[in-house]
Amino acid sequence: MNIEIRETTKLDYEDIIKINRGAFKNYGEEEIVTLVTDLLEDETGKPIVSLIAFLDGKPVGHIIFTKAKIDNVKNNLLTYILAPLGVVKEYQKLGIGGKLINEGIKRLKELKTDVVFVLGHLDYYPKYGFIKNAIKKIGYEATYDIPEEYYDGWMYMPLISMEEIKQNPGRVICADTMNKKAYWVE
Ligand SMILES: CC(C)(COP(=O)(O)OP(=O)(O)OC[C@H]1O[C@@H](n2cnc3c(N)ncnc32)[C@H](O)[C@@H]1OP(=O)(O)O)[C@@H](O)C(=O)NCCC(=O)NCCS
Repeated sequence: MNIEIRETTKLDYEDIIKINRGAFKNYGEEEIVTLVTDLLEDETGKPIVSLIAFLDGKPVGHIIFTKAKIDNVKNNLLTYILAPLGVVKEYQKLGIGGKLINEGIKRLKELKTDVVFVLGHLDYYPKYGFIKNAIKKIGYEATYDIPEEYYDGWMYMPLISMEEIKQNPGRVICADTMNKKAYWVE
């Protein structure tokens, strides 16, 4: 089993759509495809990190990290949001999602990113280094208010010291494409 991961180019467009349809099948796949294709063009989230995974040459996974802003003028940190991540159903649980996250984090470190956020599955992202509850632990709110029972799902990965991250917290403002309340309800 050979897994290859690389940055996407315009030529991968059709594969990216197919991957996300196959990953989010029956979970609003068309909405995710629109989100993905819009994010790829969204100037407010650039430079983005968009990676595609191939299993034995077949396109099976895709991840996007877009640049975010903090609504606190004192905060100069470079922050990113991970969303979305998808692995085609038949190829899940082979470690492909994890490899996409790790490779993405490697690229974000090269870009000198300070902290990465994700709103997602509680049992999944901590496996790959995300820490639950960015609101209580470091004081960073999500773009839209999250109900308290879902606070844990708003997670972060510090790439610099926690002291620096905690100095000037604020609300994490995502790229325009994701700036819709509907994307932040769970
Ligand atoms: C979530 C997803 C990207 C994981 O990709 P993957 O390649 O299967 O993940 P990995 O192989 O790296 O990790 C698998 C592990 O995560 C667990 N896992 C996978 N999806 C999970 C989920 N939704 N909730 C909790 N745990 C999950 C698996 O049970 C497995 O655990 P194990 O190692 O203890 O057996 C993939 O399942 C997917 O595309 N799901 C549909 C789309 C989606 O929900 N994307 C995330 C949006 S936040």
